[in-house]
Amino acid sequence: MIKILKADITTLQVDAIVNAANNSLLGGGGVDGAIHRAAGPQLRQYNQTLGGCPTGEARISPGFELPARYVISTVGPVWHGGNQGEAGLLENAYRNSFRIAQDNGIETIAFPAISTGVYAYPKEQAARIALGAMKDFENKFEQIIVACHSEGDVEIYRKISKEFERAKG
Ligand code: APR
Repeated sequence: MIKILKADITTLQVDAIVNAANNSLLGGGGVDGAIHRAAGPQLRQYNQTLGGCPTGEARISPGFELPARYVISTVGPVWHGGNQGEAGLLENAYRNSFRIAQDNGIETIAFPAISTGVYAYPKEQAARIALGAMKDFENKFEQIIVACHSEGDVEIYRKISKEFERAKG
């Protein structure tokens, strides 16, 4: 089941929260900064052992001081206008996060709107890609949460989710 809600992802009591990280995995701003602040310094120390993460791939770490048991860090694409494979990389970021979650027995998972902040991916296009991947994995997880940081983002996801429902007929 997919739930769309306005939430600070660092507060969610789920098996795993997904972090919109950068290739270093060593923290940054946005949701990355919030997750590292809430997880504590051990997250960065642990991630230093991972040797980075290519765009579109995902890595898993303990949640440390977060309520979530795990952090799945994935790296979304920077938006460069849409002709540099951004859509495929964003889809890979969602799908690889789901795959690493399945490999670790994770049943409840929360995602931020990957790449739509600093990386400037257009929100509606990103939401369509995110929901497409989530629908594909929906029956493999107990709960998939889209943790939106603003009401505006909630509206975008809800609108596109309705498009998917209509298309399903
Ligand atoms: N909970 C949920 N969502 C959040 C939170 C939070 N606490 N903080 C920010 N967001 C939302 C943003 O509003 C945006 O919708 O997460 C989404 C992703 O935005 P960014 O965090 O800017 O991530 P992204 O666009 O993928 O850029 C990644 O930013 O912080 C750096 O190190 C990071 O270099 C990387 C880049």
